[in-house]
Amino acid sequence: MKLFFAGQWRDTDATVEVTNPFDDSVIDEVPKASAADVDQALETLVNGAKAMRAMTAYRRAEILSKAADLMRQRRDEFAETISREEGKPLSEAKTEASRSIETMTLSAEEAKRITGETVPMDAASNGSGRMGFTIRVPCGVVAAITPFNFPLNLVVHKVGPALAAGNAILVKPASDTPLSALKLIEVLLEAGVPDEAMACLVGPGSELGEAICTDERVRKISFTGSDEVGAKICKMAGIKKVTMELGGNAPVIVMDDADVDAVAAAIARGGYANAGQTCISAQRIYTSRKIHGDAIDALKSQVAQLKVGDQLQPETKVGPLVRTHDAERVESWIDDAIAAGAQKILGGQRDGSIYQPTILDQVTADMRVSCDELFGPAVVTQAVDGIDEAIELATDTRYGLAAGIFTQNIAHALRFAREVDCGVLNINGTSTYRADLMPYGGLKESGLGKEGPKYTVREMTEEKMVVFHP
Ligand code: SIN
Repeated sequence: MKLFFAGQWRDTDATVEVTNPFDDSVIDEVPKASAADVDQALETLVNGAKAMRAMTAYRRAEILSKAADLMRQRRDEFAETISREEGKPLSEAKTEASRSIETMTLSAEEAKRITGETVPMDAASNGSGRMGFTIRVPCGVVAAITPFNFPLNLVVHKVGPALAAGNAILVKPASDTPLSALKLIEVLLEAGVPDEAMACLVGPGSELGEAICTDERVRKISFTGSDEVGAKICKMAGIKKVTMELGGNAPVIVMDDADVDAVAAAIARGGYANAGQTCISAQRIYTSRKIHGDAIDALKSQVAQLKVGDQLQPETKVGPLVRTHDAERVESWIDDAIAAGAQKILGGQRDGSIYQPTILDQVTADMRVSCDELFGPAVVTQAVDGIDEAIELATDTRYGLAAGIFTQNIAHALRFAREVDCGVLNINGTSTYRADLMPYGGLKESGLGKEGPKYTVREMTEEKMVVFHP
């Protein structure tokens, strides 16, 4: 495929190979952009932002709604592209394609709901005789820097609301998985987004990232990725609006009144979907000591049944990691934990980019498998002596994206919701749950701001105050 910028599909002097993570076969080649291409793209996007700002909300909603229809017609193609370039099982890629259509539809709806509020001016000591209200206006040019793990839906989560709010958009998808994003641009152009209002550039993160984030023409940056890169972007951005969807090492608490088999089935999905490469993947499992042995047995039996292999085979539940070096990193963290005293219950082997679904017990909080974001098909378990210890361990982390608790005790559930510092708290569900309309975003080093089209539209608009004087 080509890149789209400065109003056209374009080649550049170099290319990036896009490969299937399962067997490293080349799926496609895309042009590799440079900082000079960013500059050219932004020159056009500034005009695109004017065109978008002048477009009515009615028309923006119409275009996004048509984009959702076009995505629906190409759903199977999107699903196969996601699975091939990212490595997630085809069944999960189909779910991602369907979720992306829903995210686009929600964005179309939100285009019609951008409102301000009246301000009771005469309630101020110096407000007599005045009338005031707020309006929301687009930021201008929005940059979306997106990760590999949901190569379509996490792009739609930024592009849909950006356009709904009347912005122009520059997308920089992960270089490993650019094809879904480029196909999305095709759809949006066909749906009627002006050529000058969109660009999609693929290339080295450091060069393009710096060119994008330091440029004054970019007024808003929305990034999903690691906390390390997020912190660099925030430093480079200077005075710009930013939304940061960063990492997590999600805890799941299992109290002794939980249904152990149901919990094991939920964790076998939530800890291993997308080979664990999800920011909200269930990672740290704290089970009440009374049921710890039963919980481990049930989990082992569920996880052992997950079929591992080629993501395009219909029965596969755990595919490859996105690159072999990611599987090697997971392997080294797990090997280190075992060397430091963790007990291997299942898995622990790597074959190229495939890492076998793994369970480690008796981990400690200082092991990387606990305190960092693992992003691999493994969960770590630890027995706890009650809700106090469970909450303390769950929240003793620099991250705060999502968490889960399984319990029938309302008081425990409410304490969990109040005391565990995460953006999303699931009661009787694992951390690995997201509905695309909900406010989604982390506390602490898991991020800044929220996504979910209604909330993203707020983040991608500026608020102005209008005062009528007597
Ligand atoms: C993420 O990994 O950041 C997104 C998870 C999701 O959308 O399900």
